[in-house]
Amino acid sequence: MPSSPPPPHSATQTRRILVLNGPNLNLLGTREPAIYGSATLADIAALLEARGEELGLEVECRQSNHEGVLLDWLQQAESEGFASVLLNAGAYTHTSIALLDAIRAIALPVIEVHLSDPSQREEFRHLSYVGMAAVDTVQGLGAQSYVVALERAAAL
Ligand code: DQA
Repeated sequence: MPSSPPPPHSATQTRRILVLNGPNLNLLGTREPAIYGSATLADIAALLEARGEELGLEVECRQSNHEGVLLDWLQQAESEGFASVLLNAGAYTHTSIALLDAIRAIALPVIEVHLSDPSQREEFRHLSYVGMAAVDTVQGLGAQSYVVALERAAAL
């Protein structure tokens, strides 16, 4: 009996999701815990890796305090083999037209993530350049925002 053809290449590969964190998110755990909770970024990465495994996704987490580094990572994400990006750009969310342009420039879907709900905080946090280009936003759920965003990325 002739053997059936192999499945398409993509069907054999684990989808990879890139999680990018912007300025000051390296301080999670001690940074304003009343607003951001007590989980560290390493705790969040562990949560995402565990949920990713259940969903059949490989998760890679990165953090930078530098806008240009975040831009480079966004621009390189597709050639690095990622299927989508979760982005918590921290305060750059509210200031960076460069991030907006980068999200529009790349082919990959980007999901905006926030621990807090910026729309319920100071007026200057209400504007989100990231949100203007992101396919979705998950905010206000603490560390769980990232998990919900990962579940949405899985469904894309
Ligand atoms: C944040 C919200 C931003 O307004 C703030 O500048 C941050 C964290 C959040 O995850 O809630 O750095 O992105």
